[in-house]
Amino acid sequence: VQVVNSPAEMQRLADAARSRGERIALVPTMGYLHEGHLALMREGRRRADLLVASIFVNPTQFGPAEDLARYPRDFERDCAMLRTVPVDVVFAPEAAAIYPHGFQTWVEVIELTKGLCGRSRPIHFRGVTTVVAKLFNLVKPQLALFGEKDFQQLRAIERMVRDLNFDLEIVPVPIVRESDGLAMSSRNAYLTPAERAQALSLNRALQATRERFDSNAGAGPSELARVAAGILAAMPDVSVEYVEVVDAETLLPATSRDAPLLVAIAARVGKTRLIDNTVLRRDR
Ligand code: PAF
Repeated sequence: VQVVNSPAEMQRLADAARSRGERIALVPTMGYLHEGHLALMREGRRRADLLVASIFVNPTQFGPAEDLARYPRDFERDCAMLRTVPVDVVFAPEAAAIYPHGFQTWVEVIELTKGLCGRSRPIHFRGVTTVVAKLFNLVKPQLALFGEKDFQQLRAIERMVRDLNFDLEIVPVPIVRESDGLAMSSRNAYLTPAERAQALSLNRALQATRERFDSNAGAGPSELARVAAGILAAMPDVSVEYVEVVDAETLLPATSRDAPLLVAIAARVGKTRLIDNTVLRRDR
């Protein structure tokens, strides 16, 4: 895998690939890769000629009290994992190259980022959409792949692509789980074994809403949210930030029982903030 640090070199490489008629896929990441990232990479590999993974711990999407400084990093291990796919190019810029002195331009998706995680992380999505827009301009991909685990992020990026006429396709990839159901996340590395056991309650709560939804056609959003909240409340080290059941397209309160519903959870397990979700569809 070729490592590129310079934004200008990345653009030159992308231009050269495009002039050879190659299709470029981008998988943006913050590194400390796991199987969930590799699922994105493999899907990108299947669909493109040149597969680019970016590794950039983006400072602008972390709030002042969040875990930017201690976010897990292991570039050598990441590269070894990327070779197994194989990924062609790793784009790993320095923060000063992405946000040079005088930087003052932001991309913000307004409505979709107000609720759910946006309530407790007011600057997070603005940081995400800004860096992703920049990555699109640097890597010039025809397609970019994002995991459904960060569902609100996925919806915000899809909206940005439509609103700003980015000429590329966004490919969503389903959540990858450990064999016991825990959704894969770089932040799982923070969990102690005891916390990890309690973290399984997030997926159990989602499964319980799915069972209620399948068995009771009349179950509405508030009943489904209560089912999930009940399971999480029984866990002493799980502190719920939100359990919400919303329209999976607009992320607003669901107005029709037939629209796909997003059940979304954010909770702290010990000190670690985890999110998980599932989408419920009537026609399953
Ligand atoms: O999902 C992530 O890892 C990040 O939010 C992303 C999309 C790489 C932007 O920094």
